[in-house]
This record gives sequence, C-alpha cells and structure tokens, in this order.
Amino acid sequence: MASVSEVKDEPGQPPALTSLSLAEAAQEAKSKEQIVTPFDVSGGLDELGNPKAIDYDKLVDTFGSQRIDKLLLDRFEKVTGHKPHRMLRRGLVFSHRDLNLILDKYEKGIPFFLYTGRGPSSDSMHVGHTIPFEFTKYLQDVFDVPLVIMLTDDEKFYHTPRLSLKDVYKFTIQNAMDIIAVGFDMKKTFIFADTEFVDGGFAAAFNNNVRELGKRTTINQIKGTFGFNDSNNIAEFAFPAMQSATAFATSFPFIFGTDPKKVAKVPCLIPCAIDQDPYFRQCRDNAPKMGYLKPAIIHSVFLPSLRGRESKMSASDADSSIFLSDTDNQVKKKVGKAFSGGQDTAEEHRRIGGRTAVDVPFQYLTFFMEDDEELERIRIEYEEGRMQSGELKMACTKELQAYVGGFRDRRKAVTEEIRREFMRPRQLVFRGMPAEKEL
Ligand code: TRP
Repeated sequence: MASVSEVKDEPGQPPALTSLSLAEAAQEAKSKEQIVTPFDVSGGLDELGNPKAIDYDKLVDTFGSQRIDKLLLDRFEKVTGHKPHRMLRRGLVFSHRDLNLILDKYEKGIPFFLYTGRGPSSDSMHVGHTIPFEFTKYLQDVFDVPLVIMLTDDEKFYHTPRLSLKDVYKFTIQNAMDIIAVGFDMKKTFIFADTEFVDGGFAAAFNNNVRELGKRTTINQIKGTFGFNDSNNIAEFAFPAMQSATAFATSFPFIFGTDPKKVAKVPCLIPCAIDQDPYFRQCRDNAPKMGYLKPAIIHSVFLPSLRGRESKMSASDADSSIFLSDTDNQVKKKVGKAFSGGQDTAEEHRRIGGRTAVDVPFQYLTFFMEDDEELERIRIEYEEGRMQSGELKMACTKELQAYVGGFRDRRKAVTEEIRREFMRPRQLVFRGMPAEKEL
C-alpha cells in the first residue's frame, strides 16, 4: 500500500488527493499509544509490538465523559419503566455525557429527540454496524421520541480517495434500506443523506446551523480534535460542522416547528460508538454560544472482529465479520473459525477452562443473547471447563442465525417506496410533539 508521503503533486495540476484515507494512513503508522478518533481506532501496541485491545475504561478518562453506573441505570429504569437494554446491563453501552439531564427533562414531560448516523462506505453492512442502530431502536421504543438518522455520504466521499460520488450514493440507498430493516417506526423517524439535504426548501435551517458552526470553528481546533494535517483536503476540514448541526432541533423545523424559543429548548440525545465522540465534543463547545443546549451522548463499545479483540473488522476480509447478507451456513462457518479462548485439547480445556474475556463467540453472545441467566450459566460452564469451545460456538451460531434471519425477513419487506417515505422531510408523530404540548 502506498503511503501518504509517496503521493506526488503533478506540476501545474491541483494537488492530488492522498491515496490513503487518514484512517488507513494512521493504521499503517501503528502508534504504540491507544488512539480513538472517527478516523482511527487502535488499542496501541504492547512491549513486543503486538496490537492491544482497546481499553475503554481508560478512554472514559481521556475523553472526560462519565461512566454509566448502577445508580444511573436504576434511575433509567425508574424514569422509563423499562428494564435497561442488555447492552446497558452488560457495560457495552458504558459511557455518557448528560444522560442524567435528559432523564430529568423526560421525567418532567419535556420531549427530546434522538440522533444517530452512518457513513455509507460500502453496500454490505455487517452486524457490527447494526448494533448501534439496534440500541437506538430500543431507545426510540422506550422513550417514544423522534429520531433523525444522518447518512454522511459526503464524509465518506471526502475521506476515501477510491470512492466516487456515484459509489457513495449507491451505498447510501442500500444502507438506508438496511437501517430501516432494523425496525424503526416510520412515523417517528426521518433519514437523510447529506448530499440530498441541500440548501433551499427543507434544508435551509440545517445549512444555516452548518454555517453558524463553521464560522465558530478554526482550523486549529479541527487539527487538534481529529488529528488532521495540511495534507487533508479542505472538505474534510469543513465536514464536522455538518455532523454537529444535526444535533440541533432548530435544523428540522418540519419536525419541531418554527418557534425559535421553543425549538431551541428541545434537547438531543446521540447514541453512537465512542469513536464519534470528538465530533460531539466540538458540537458541545459551540452549542451555548449559539444559544442552544449541548447534545447529550451515550457511547457504546465496538463489536470485536471475529479474528479477535485486537484486530479490526474489515470489509475486505469476509471472515472478520458476519454480514447481514450471510446465509445460515456462512454464519456457522465463520463462527466456527472465530478466535476462541478455549484450550488446545479437550482434556486441557476440562482441566484449565476457557477464557471468556478473549473468546469471540462468548463476546458475541454478550451482545446478542437476551437471557442474562443463560449467559451467566454459559460463562461459568465454559470458564470451569465443563463446556467445550464447540458447544459455545454452537450457542453463538444459533443466536446469530436467528438475528441475521430476522433481519433478512424484515429487509425483504423494505421497498423503494418505504425508503422514500422515511427519507421525505415531514412532520413526525410523537408524544409531546410541539403542536400538542408547550415545550
Ligand atoms: N460519522 C459517522 C460514520 O462515519 C456517521 C454519523 C453521522 C454518526 N452522525 C452520527 C454516527 C451520529 C453516530 C451518531 O459512521
């Protein structure tokens, strides 16, 4: 693979785009330290130069977010009347900013909205991609609030030299249909693609917020927050204002109404994987200066690669992840080959037991198996050597086949007409919507 420094500008021509995205370049550099930004996720290297798993606990301290503790989960359950999602119960959604303030407001009957998104970088989504959306659907069901889903086709275009605008648009449409198949409520969900949500008409307010943010953001801040340098293209520098502007209710007058005093008070909660936090830290810095509330955030961990906690899931390595388009047989084969924390022989396994902390099939069960007691039973049986790797892999295969099978059925029902309706700017229906209730 070419390195960024090998890319030469032709005399008399505009500077070439770097042949690697920043993410790819940073990955090549293999820093010893843990790095987590939207463009590079790596746990760093140990003394022997081997990649380490991400230390999420350390990340909470470096990012300065709050841990989600038992107290907050108890309060969540009391306020919503719902058992916390398994990802909350198991620490897979582990950190937040201002979730307590959202609960305070919700308790008083003040509505808020959810915002999440995806950068459409390929047409095949895998189960790691749907996890944050599954969690978002749970939040939408529990709180009965509107949801805005942003598809950042522009971001992926700017950051990936090999992709054309036509490529990313094709991914955008496919990904939108996959996301709809997660099961979002059409009446409460608006999905938009950045390249389609352009000035004039419905997107005018959104784009004015992009401008307000852009004017308040310096090149220095972007360099510091995202690790960009002078070789990044100017579109990459400008893009963060887009991702931030979606966190303000005033960007969507067709959903929240046009009374500026009321709309500015509708808070936003953003469920996202922890790598997106840098965007929203910057958004939170700017919000008060614009007279808006800081968006609240709730962070999840990443689903590990099938190859082990230390490696990455990659679209070019089909065995590193389970795709939503995989057949039952492919699921079975991939889980069979997944990194195991079991011992080399059955006899040794019975004597020493398995290591659930590094065992990928066990880790996947923590994401997908709903039954806490059954999961705990499996953990103990496996760690104490009574359950062999093969049996654990079978349990994991069953859960994933059920998940992918359920997805497959729902996906078949998503027509082009349904997609268009989700992506049409319109009034959403939700409890406490502006027409019904004073904000
Ligand atoms: N930048 C994200 C990505 O590349 C997409 C995104 C936009 C997003 N807005 C978001 C993700 C809000 C989570 C929450 O995937």
